[in-house]
Amino acid sequence: MAPITSHQNSASPKGQSPLHIPVLLEEVLEYLAPQDGDSYLDLTAGYGGHASAVLEGTNSPEKAVLVDRDTNAVRELTARFGASVRIMHEDFAGATDKLVQEGKQFDLILADLGVSSPHLNEAARGFSLAQDGPLDMRMDQDQELTAERVVNDYSEEQLIQILTEYGEEPKARAIARAIIAARPIRTTTELASVVKGQWRGHSKVHPATRTFQAIRIAVNNELEMIDKSLPLWINLLSPGGRLCIISFQSLEDRLVKNHLAEASGNRYDAELRLLTKRPVTAGTHELAFNPRARSAKLRAAVKIKN
Ligand SMILES: C[S@@+](CC[C@H](N)C(=O)[O-])C[C@H]1O[C@@H](n2cnc3c(N)ncnc32)[C@H](O)[C@@H]1O
Repeated sequence: MAPITSHQNSASPKGQSPLHIPVLLEEVLEYLAPQDGDSYLDLTAGYGGHASAVLEGTNSPEKAVLVDRDTNAVRELTARFGASVRIMHEDFAGATDKLVQEGKQFDLILADLGVSSPHLNEAARGFSLAQDGPLDMRMDQDQELTAERVVNDYSEEQLIQILTEYGEEPKARAIARAIIAARPIRTTTELASVVKGQWRGHSKVHPATRTFQAIRIAVNNELEMIDKSLPLWINLLSPGGRLCIISFQSLEDRLVKNHLAEASGNRYDAELRLLTKRPVTAGTHELAFNPRARSAKLRAAVKIKN
């Protein structure tokens, strides 16, 4: 296993983008354990923080594939890694299908799910309820479906379903009705205040947090893509290869947990052995300089050699 260098001493250590601090970096390196010559697939390469640290260990960028659906992230990846790695600008469901068809296998696979810090920090992307911006929420800026279309065009039943399934929102019906009554809703702060109007009293988190999560998941088709692709990631692992998945909310983590449990069950044909009995979370040191890591959960597994 390559030595683990300390990447956690500042917000932007050598080789890291100042735009996004990779979460659980030391843990990812511990579980992927990159070795000289390993091939690497990063399904959500983002700003290349994990990728750059893993590639330091593999020393084989020509065997690496970095995937992201976001144009800005791909621009940053191209600037950082250039032609030394293969970069795929598409969602990981499409990229996974292509790589399976090509018959590829990888020693190390990472999926660091969800949004990047620039998604949340740039008001114009429309992900943050704390900043006024357009109702966008698309990770892939070329995609047609936006949050504005979901909020303004979907039926009451569709909104209730999204708020219930993707937000686990107890007031789904009341919020759906309030959204429909307030149409047209054009900005994040307008939506946040419509939802807040359905709540009385105090709550620790903003009352629109679950609504924003639900709409974001719907716009980006997040859970379906994980559900469809995760079994194929196991096919893409070489025998003895390692898979690490980081999720940021409970619906995602449940899907990951269930898929990994199914593939590693106590049977003669189990494909995986779990490396993490429980999800690994960030320690106080990491949380002190990267509060975004507080909801991160890492699960890892190794492909059983036949
Ligand atoms: C948490 S960030 C990853 C950060 C990265 N590990 C780093 O160190 O910079 C998640 C990234 O995954 C991308 N993403 C999310 N869902 C995706 C999907 N279904 N297909 C491709 N990329 C996706 C987002 O655009 C975002 O850049």
